Amino acid sequence: MLASRFFGESAVGNAFKIAVLAGDAIGPEIMAQATRVFSVLSEHRDLAFDLIEAPFGAHAYFSHGKSFPEETKHICDSADAILKGPVGLSYEASKAIPVEEQAERGAILPLRARYQTYANFRPIYLSRNMAHFSPLKPEIIADGIDILLIRELVGGLYFGAKDRGVNDQGLRYVHETLAYDEAQIRRVLTVAFEQARARKGRLHNIHKSNVLMSSVLWNEILDEVHAEFQDIEVIPMLVDAAATALCLNPGQFDVMVMENMFGDILSDQGGGILGSLGLMPSACVGPDKAYYEPSHGSAPDIAGKNMANPYSMIGSVAMLLEMSCGLKAEASLVWQAMKQVFEAGYTTADLGGSNPEKTVATDTFGDLVMAALSESLSKD
Ligand code: NAD
Ligand code: IPM
Ligand code: MN
Repeated sequence: MLASRFFGESAVGNAFKIAVLAGDAIGPEIMAQATRVFSVLSEHRDLAFDLIEAPFGAHAYFSHGKSFPEETKHICDSADAILKGPVGLSYEASKAIPVEEQAERGAILPLRARYQTYANFRPIYLSRNMAHFSPLKPEIIADGIDILLIRELVGGLYFGAKDRGVNDQGLRYVHETLAYDEAQIRRVLTVAFEQARARKGRLHNIHKSNVLMSSVLWNEILDEVHAEFQDIEVIPMLVDAAATALCLNPGQFDVMVMENMFGDILSDQGGGILGSLGLMPSACVGPDKAYYEPSHGSAPDIAGKNMANPYSMIGSVAMLLEMSCGLKAEASLVWQAMKQVFEAGYTTADLGGSNPEKTVATDTFGDLVMAALSESLSKD
């Protein structure tokens, strides 16, 4: 699905050290299924995966006083790749944790900053035979959906200067800065052009240059990078219009690139047009290391019920295998196994199956995928 060239420095050999951060709420449930992939692969291939679990997120705050404890940083530093489950608590439960230590600000953003994981790959994919999962009309997505959304992940509003206080009139105020420099923009755009070249030669540039100066600079840099990729067709689109276009005609998109906040919002809309956020895996790639996580959150509303969809977590393993371990063929078998299970008529609760006998729990979906993967590995 992805051009594997991007993470050129993938680990070599057949032994890989993976930091496993299971996360909060549904995190451990979906992670338990995803890590089975490593066991199945080592049973059938000469591959060894050393999985090192580490505390990260709200539970880490309660056990270690930090949502990204020092020991976890060391484990991540020494790993070939990091597999991360969703973290965070419900709005109410979060209040038990000081704002700065809540999992989002205290763990996720520092993880992204530590490894400068600037290119976030969020595939929005449904095969033709899975098209019925989408809430869109069949005539809109008869051929399925296949978009690679690339989100800049370590700049913009998320990481710009912030200030809160009380002004001269006694009013509480907040300043939040959308900051980028040209190097930050250039590196993610370069990745996007490379992905477009490896796919259909078409790149949608999502921006808001009619209002935001950050988009004006973004588009200037885009023109400069485009000069090195003249074979690629660039289609500029304002972010608000892109939100509508994703619903009305997603087939026009192949690779889309955008700044951090736009990508946060449009990628969840991607989950919406697929039918569930549970179908959204992702890769967060930096110059030296990458980490892999579902695009969605910890879904506290369904935690502990064995009903979360582990596709996003298992798909994140597939992306890790391809991009950090150079195991493209094995990654492809993982995608195939999941597709096979869905195409055999099984669904998870979030996808709203009409046949209760084929609506399966988190662990049963895992069983079916591992069985399909095992079978294809024995034949291959
Ligand atoms: P969410 O993504 O957790 O859930 C939104 C909706 O999608 C819910 O109805 C949920 O049940 C459903 N959903 C999500 N993943 C699913 C899956 N795998 N299978 C089935 N259904 C699934 O968003 P939220 O409720 O707004 O946030 C919950 C917590 O997660 C918050 O603390 C938030 O900050 C955090 N969060 C973390 C990450 C991350 O770790 N990268 C990402 C987004 C949100
Ligand atoms: C995501 C999440 C995160 C983000 C939060 C939890 C920090 O929503 O990965 O999309 O906004 O980037
Ligand atoms: Mn998000």
